[in-house]
Amino acid sequence: MLLLDERVFRMGFKTFLGIKKRSWKRSAKKFIAKVKRTFPQYPWEDFLRISEHFRGRELSSLPERAFLFRLSHDLPSDAKVVEIGSWLGASSCLLAWGLKGTKAKMYAIDNFRGNASDGSARVRYQERMSKLKTDTTKDIFDRNIAYFNMENRVTAIVNDSLQAAKNFCEPPHSIDLVFIDGDHSEEATKNDITAWLPFAKPCGIVVFHDFTSNHGVPQAVWWAIKQSYFSELIGIYGSTIAFKVNKGA
Ligand SMILES: C[S@@+](CC[C@H](N)C(=O)[O-])C[C@H]1O[C@@H](n2cnc3c(N)ncnc32)[C@H](O)[C@@H]1O
Repeated sequence: MLLLDERVFRMGFKTFLGIKKRSWKRSAKKFIAKVKRTFPQYPWEDFLRISEHFRGRELSSLPERAFLFRLSHDLPSDAKVVEIGSWLGASSCLLAWGLKGTKAKMYAIDNFRGNASDGSARVRYQERMSKLKTDTTKDIFDRNIAYFNMENRVTAIVNDSLQAAKNFCEPPHSIDLVFIDGDHSEEATKNDITAWLPFAKPCGIVVFHDFTSNHGVPQAVWWAIKQSYFSELIGIYGSTIAFKVNKGA
């Protein structure tokens, strides 16, 4: 009895009773019903299945993830996507699942150790990793990609973003969508923009997460706007913002 009490205490009473799971599902279904009315052309049941798999471990909201899912689904069938910062693979699975065609490809770039330049971010990742009882999220990432049978579509690159850009196997101007969600300091985000934008197709898409955070992403995005790197704002959902890349960037 004592053991059970301890377990209930540790996991939280609502989790133990399954209340959190049921309430998540209720609000997710409500969200899907709404988004389906506006955007009926997307496979929302798949979106729900993937989101449910990551329930409780996600780092972004449903509307943000739905936006990413739509963006990748709208890409051409041979599209290539680069993601900087993959963590456990929640956004990677959604981006990759949204893609169509056997030639479509996604590169998931992460050191998988939470090695960000900002000390407080590093501590946060380490705390999360210690809860997951690991010092790298790569194994969990791999299991999640395999769970959705996307090993052939997703290539993980275990490296720091800037090093990965130096050794990247795809030519310049070949990537349809770049999702930047790695090191969130202003300098690191600017470096990611400078390193990865040359790989984007003219009129390709660049997406930032944590755009409304107090880390440094908004300052870096504003800097990129002033450099005329973007030609169009595609959309903003929560803390996710997407631009069309300027032809001359
Ligand atoms: C916010 S998480 C990514 C969340 C993921 N996009 C999602 O939505 O599920 C940020 C990730 O970036 C990685 N990271 C931080 N700095 C990095 C860098 N300089 N190079 C590569 N990865 C980095 C961390 O290890 C962490 O896994």
